[in-house]
Amino acid sequence: MQKSIDQIYHEALKDIEGADTLESVEAHSITYLGRKGLVTQFLRSVATLPADERPLAGKRANEVKQALDAAVLAATKRCELAAEKADEGIDVTLPGRTVKQGTLHPLTRVTLEICDIFTHLGFQIVEGPEIETDYYNFEALNIPKNHPARDMQDTFYISENTVLRTHTSPTQPRVMEKQDPPVRIIAPGKVYRCDSDLTHTPMFHQVEGLLVDEHISFGDLKGILTTFIHKIFDEETSLRFRPSFFPFTEPSAEVDIRCVICRGKGCRVCSQTGWLEVLGAGMVHPAVFENIGYDTQKYTGFAFGMGVERITMLKYGVDDIRKYFENDLRFLRQF
Ligand code: PHE
Repeated sequence: MQKSIDQIYHEALKDIEGADTLESVEAHSITYLGRKGLVTQFLRSVATLPADERPLAGKRANEVKQALDAAVLAATKRCELAAEKADEGIDVTLPGRTVKQGTLHPLTRVTLEICDIFTHLGFQIVEGPEIETDYYNFEALNIPKNHPARDMQDTFYISENTVLRTHTSPTQPRVMEKQDPPVRIIAPGKVYRCDSDLTHTPMFHQVEGLLVDEHISFGDLKGILTTFIHKIFDEETSLRFRPSFFPFTEPSAEVDIRCVICRGKGCRVCSQTGWLEVLGAGMVHPAVFENIGYDTQKYTGFAFGMGVERITMLKYGVDDIRKYFENDLRFLRQF
C-alpha cells in the first residue's frame, strides 16, 4: 500500500532535522525530493486519483514539498556552520579567558577604610552637598563675613552666597540643625580650593568627624583619634597634639603622627622633623552651638577633619598627589 503523504512528510522531517553532516542532508533530500523521490512520485500519482480527490491531495502534496524544501535549507545552513566551527579549531576543553576586573581607586579604598573604622566606633556616615552656601561653609562655623580666617582658604565662589565647599565642616551645622545630641557622625566627601601645585589639587577629599553629647572632653577626642590612627596605620604609630587655631573649635589642635616612613629618625617625607601632620581637630566652639540652638551649658563636643589624599600617600608611600588624578592604569592597578 502506498504511504500517505503525511506519513512521508513526518518521516522526511525527522530524517532531515536529524542529519548532522552536509552529505546526509543531501542524501535525504534526494530520497524525498529528488527526481525519483517519494514526494515527487506522490505528486505524479495525483493525476491518477479519482477526479474528486485530486485537488485536495495535490494541494497537500505541494505544501509538504515546500515545507521539506525549507527544512533542507535550514539543515544545510546548520551543518555548514558546524563545519566552519570545526575548521577554526576551537578547543572547547581549553580554560576560558579571564575577564579583567577593575579595582577600587586608592582614595576610595582608604575612604571606605576610614569610614569602616569609625562605623565600628559608633559613628554614622552622612554626606553634604559640594555646592554649599556661604552660610554653612563659613558663617555657621563662626567664620563671619570679612573675618580674616576666610583668607586661610582660597574659595571658588559660584555667586556671592554660593561656594564650592572648602572643607567638609559645613556638614557639622547641617547635621546639628536637624538633630538633638547625642550626635556621632563622620562625613566623607570632595572639597575644593583654588590651589594647584606639587602637593595641592583644586579638588581633594576630606573626612569630617563630629561627636556631641553631655560630658565630652578633650580626652575623648584624644582617645578616639588615637584608636583611629592605630587602626589605619598600626599600633606602633604615636601621635602628638599641637595647639592650633580654627574659628569653629576651641581649643584647637593639629594632630601629627610619627613619620611612618622613617619612624621618627627624619627623612624627606617628614622634612627631617620625624612628624607628619594628618588632622585638624578641636572642641566645638560654643559660638557654633549657639548658632544651632544647642544648650552650651549642657553639651560639649569635638570635631576633626582629615585629608584622604594625605593619609593614602602615607599608607602606600605615594610621593606625588597628582598620580591620584591622572588615571594611569599602571598606577591604579597596583591597589
Ligand atoms: N575644616 C578644617 C580644615 O579643612 C579641619 C577641621 C575640621 C578642624 C574639624 C577642626 C575641626 O582645615
